[in-house]
Amino acid sequence: MTTLVPQGGFPPVPTSFEEVPLNEVYRLIEPGPVVLLTTARGGRANVMTLSWHMMVDFTPPLLACVVAGCLSSQALDETGECVVAIPPAGIARAVVAIGNESGRRLDKFAEHGLTPLRAAIVGAPLVGECIANLECRVVDETLVEKYGLRVLQVVKAWRDQARRDAKTIHHQGYGTFAVDGRTLHLPSKMP
Ligand SMILES: Cc1cc2nc3c(=O)[nH]c(=O)nc-3n(C[C@H](O)[C@H](O)[C@H](O)COP(=O)(O)O)c2cc1C
Repeated sequence: MTTLVPQGGFPPVPTSFEEVPLNEVYRLIEPGPVVLLTTARGGRANVMTLSWHMMVDFTPPLLACVVAGCLSSQALDETGECVVAIPPAGIARAVVAIGNESGRRLDKFAEHGLTPLRAAIVGAPLVGECIANLECRVVDETLVEKYGLRVLQVVKAWRDQARRDAKTIHHQGYGTFAVDGRTLHLPSKMP
């Protein structure tokens, strides 16, 4: 069955629909969770906050992320490696602070009491306080210049069983975040 276009076109939107300024669209569609991205270069580790990311493929797991104009983007260019760590809502304040300051000026791991741990494959550290840690290699840089977009391949993934029930945070702009709520289990063919 298909939905037919009614004569005279579709009905107009109700008055409850308001137009969203185009520069605020990201606040509606931005996928979660907010993550931390760590790098290591020249014997120094750094961490930034990242919310513009998305899965690109299942196997091998590929994810795309937009990182631009910061110390982390330079480290990514130089080393081609990083760790994407998923923080629990409990450290949200630190996550926001990490995204509002640069590793050019301070050691953000020490400043926020985060524990850098040795990764198995990449030089960048895992974050001990996070729910999950993904060791990644940059595998596609073709859109870096245009969009700051890199495709990362996850080469090793860790989940902390002790944080199995922790909630993630999802960015809605300007310091507003949604915290994960109820879990629904519905029939679906989608993996
Ligand atoms: C909630 C939040 C989300 C952010 N998402 C991104 C992002 O997706 N990409 C990006 O380049 N910067 C993002 N930032 C900004 C960086 O985290 C920020 O520029 C940081 O200071 C970079 O640190 P660095 O210079 O030590 O690399 C975000 C910041 C916050 C607070």
